[in-house]
Amino acid sequence: MSNLLEKLEKYYNEDYLPMHMPGHKRNIEMLGEKLPYKIDITEITGFDDLHHAEGIIKNIEDKAKKIYKSKRSYVLVNGSTCGILAGIRAVVNFGDKVIVARNCHKSVYNAIELNNLNPIYVLPKIGEDGIDRNIDSKQIEEKLKENKDVKLVILTSPTYEGVISDIKSIVNIAHKYNIPVLVDEAHGAHLKFMSGISDKEALNSGADIVIQSLHKTLPSLTGTALLHIQGDLVKEESIERERSIFETSSPSYILMSSVEECLDIILNDGKSLFKEYENNLKYFYNETKNLENLKILGNEIKEYYDFGKIVIKTDKTNITGKELFNILRDKYKIELEMSSINYALAMTSICDSKENFKRLLDALIDIDNKLDKQELKEQEKINIKLQLPKKEISILEAIKNESLEFKNYKETEGRISKEYIWVYPPGIPLITPGEVINKELIKKIAEYEKAGIEVRTTSDKFPKINIIK
Ligand SMILES: Cc1ncc(COP(=O)(O)O)c(C=O)c1O
Repeated sequence: MSNLLEKLEKYYNEDYLPMHMPGHKRNIEMLGEKLPYKIDITEITGFDDLHHAEGIIKNIEDKAKKIYKSKRSYVLVNGSTCGILAGIRAVVNFGDKVIVARNCHKSVYNAIELNNLNPIYVLPKIGEDGIDRNIDSKQIEEKLKENKDVKLVILTSPTYEGVISDIKSIVNIAHKYNIPVLVDEAHGAHLKFMSGISDKEALNSGADIVIQSLHKTLPSLTGTALLHIQGDLVKEESIERERSIFETSSPSYILMSSVEECLDIILNDGKSLFKEYENNLKYFYNETKNLENLKILGNEIKEYYDFGKIVIKTDKTNITGKELFNILRDKYKIELEMSSINYALAMTSICDSKENFKRLLDALIDIDNKLDKQELKEQEKINIKLQLPKKEISILEAIKNESLEFKNYKETEGRISKEYIWVYPPGIPLITPGEVINKELIKKIAEYEKAGIEVRTTSDKFPKINIIK
């Protein structure tokens, strides 16, 4: 049992009268034990303070620092979302220019809005299967050469689908210009412990700020994450100040003990657990090599890839990724992470047994045998490759504009969008507030609609779009 958890349990048994928050007062006689009321406390004597850690919580952060070999590591209980907001604001001033991979999570866009940043976007390459690939260091170099006043480079690696960028090369270039690199590694807290890809994780590659969701790929409760820093380009005081803005002032001790439990598992049993996990993955990838119709992305990408993500491609079959998702759910009781037009994604971790992998494998073999080898129907293909739309005003200006003009998207050519438009997955904005809607975008949205992919907008009034008057 982790130190914090042990201390929480001991404290409960010491029978202190809680004349403080939380309001449940640990009264399990009244409330029962369905939820962990017994160990849910606030910052009381002896339990440290996440916003000014110097005791038991500092020890957890030091444990993370030791494991991930950072200069400082910070515990987050508001997910990577809060770390991304804090990490970006720690570096930039209001109105600064930043280089941003367009496939970043919405928290990055929220940081752009809050700080009224001027984003210089780089687009990831897109595979023939429509799945985003990496960002190349040459793309970053080009933007750095063109924009001498950039203050930060912001990237996502690995992507939701497991694609890793060569962060080392990107960092080398950015550091030549004295510019820090922030990597949203929300999906990569486990990379450090995987042989073959451990050297490609962001801290090892020299990134200055790295944010990881422990809860996504390691055994930790939902909402738990870490923010790490290293090098001299980012100040600890700035990170601390910003974290205290974006992190709740009432951090859950249950979540914080979950972070410590997770780190202890890695420290004590990590080697054997990851060895077994990698063996299971090898077994799975080997056995799926010979599938006739379904294809696994990890059997095609050999390097810079997180094999823990099982991307099952349906683009050479007569079913969509969404249909595969539903078949696995309804017929085999296997619930995947998500699906798209031509793939579905299974997430795995050290907590998956060999039986879990075998169950997914058997289901896929069974489905594969029943499929026809046939390309997706023409109307279901997404063919248009979008260029970046023209920016007219900043995201913040567009959002603060009071216009409430809504028009069907087909009638919005040449107008400035007041909202984000995206399809999920991958959740990358097709357009951001302040950008101009063009003919190509309208065609692309129509394509998505025809293929039965749900198009989302901030106002949730699609097919109507809020445009600026
Ligand atoms: C790439 C990426 N970054 C950041 C986040 C936010 O992470 P969290 O849910 O831990 O706040 C997500 C969540 O899905 C994500 O996919």
